[in-house]
Amino acid sequence: MSYKLLNGKEISAQIKNEIAEEVKNIIAKGGKQPHLAAILVGTDGASETYVAHKVKSCEQVGFKSSLIRYNTDVSQETLVKKIIEINENTDIDGLIVQLPIPDHISEDKIIETIDPKKDVDGFHPVNIGKLTIGLPTYISATPKGIIELLKRNNIETSGKHCVVIGRSNIVGKPVSILLSQKSETGNATVTLCHSRTINLKEITLQADILIAAIGKKEFVTADMVKEGAVVVDVGIHRVKSDKTKSGWKLKGDVKFDEVAPKCSYITPVPGGVGPMTIVSLLQNTLSASKKEIYK
Ligand code: GUN
Repeated sequence: MSYKLLNGKEISAQIKNEIAEEVKNIIAKGGKQPHLAAILVGTDGASETYVAHKVKSCEQVGFKSSLIRYNTDVSQETLVKKIIEINENTDIDGLIVQLPIPDHISEDKIIETIDPKKDVDGFHPVNIGKLTIGLPTYISATPKGIIELLKRNNIETSGKHCVVIGRSNIVGKPVSILLSQKSETGNATVTLCHSRTINLKEITLQADILIAAIGKKEFVTADMVKEGAVVVDVGIHRVKSDKTKSGWKLKGDVKFDEVAPKCSYITPVPGGVGPMTIVSLLQNTLSASKKEIYK
């Protein structure tokens, strides 16, 4: 089968243009410039890269951004104080704390300290609760990006069997909820698989849409995929390569070369889900700035 790429790079560029245009109009009318604050703890290479992309993307669409950095040994108390200060700062519309954070700090405490109104990552229990019952909220960036990628490629989800591999709070769980939601971009029959799933291959072979969010390099192989399936690869794994200038290459959770020929559509890594995640964060920040969800 000849497959089509779900080109997140191209679609995210389109969406960025749409956002930039809207920001220009808002500012021309004397409105407020959207402002995203990001807290980064430590010097984890992947987190540094993600946050740098987020800050750069803010610039590209005309948002203001503030990056607040702490050493790995920062106390929970210091972080909590900073978050409360940002919650009260009326110039800042959205706040993200890049995960993971060091083990001596409670991730739950940090997330719960963020004002749900500014939680543009959509990680706060209040926002996850709203998502679960189908109320308007900030939908976390990766699931939102996946749904948008399917929508903009006119991929029907209604009545389809979507199989999600991975049950993380950030991706697997919310995307499974969104796809099963009674909505234009949902209405799917969803199976959520994880590390304790028995007969995984039997289930993935039934998938019309297969979402790989398991965090294991090249885990999904051709024998697990139905002919004509749509495959969305959420994985990002850096591997050494002597073929690239940087000496590194990115691989996904899907063994692309052998899986792609069986697919109708598949996301590349890089250039698939990754860029969609970043624009989703921009969309949530714009939404926060316009007070679309919380007044
Ligand atoms: N770490 C991995 N993905 C994410 C994300 O979407 N937001 C934050 N804050 N941290 C992450």
